[in-house]
Amino acid sequence: MKQTDLSRLAKEDIISIIGKEWMLITAGDIQHFNTMTASWGGVGFLWGKPVAFVFIRPERYTHDFVEQNDRLTLTFFDEADKDILNFCGTKSGRDYDKVKETGLRPVATPGGNVSFEQARLTIEGRKLYKTRLTADGFIDKAALERWYHDKPGGGLHDVYVVEIENVFEQ
Ligand SMILES: Cc1cc2nc3c(=O)[nH]c(=O)nc-3n(C[C@H](O)[C@H](O)[C@H](O)COP(=O)(O)O)c2cc1C
Repeated sequence: MKQTDLSRLAKEDIISIIGKEWMLITAGDIQHFNTMTASWGGVGFLWGKPVAFVFIRPERYTHDFVEQNDRLTLTFFDEADKDILNFCGTKSGRDYDKVKETGLRPVATPGGNVSFEQARLTIEGRKLYKTRLTADGFIDKAALERWYHDKPGGGLHDVYVVEIENVFEQ
């Protein structure tokens, strides 16, 4: 894992990699962390800073870790590692040791956060802002129906905006 700069992200089709290839959201330190798959989120510019934003349901075990830590990582993988992402997106760290089950090889970033040897790209970010989606906020009520009423998988998501502090690549 070597440090690179923000412009590395310009080489990625960021909408597709988040939406189609997915990512892991990981929080905690190498001794005690949890990770989950996510396909909602983005990268942008806010309050004079490069940022990423993610949507995490309060029920997720990962949510506890994101709450308890100042920083998190977003990691991106090759297609060959899709099984890892499928596992981490369907099983909870409350019930399974995701590292043991998937063969993920955790590695500490210089800042003490967690990435994985298999990750081809890692974004490390510091939490700036959190808010919970509200039903009232949906201008397009179809999205509320589709994702929360028709398909109840838990509560409305918490949105976290993180400042992108570091980018690492393989
Ligand atoms: C493709 C895919 C994308 C997902 N995206 C999200 C997401 O953006 N936000 C979220 O809260 N859960 C998302 N999930 C669900 C979590 O990954 C899943 O509930 C996971 O088991 C939570 O693990 P945990 O309890 O160990 O945190 C996604 C699952 C899959 C398979």
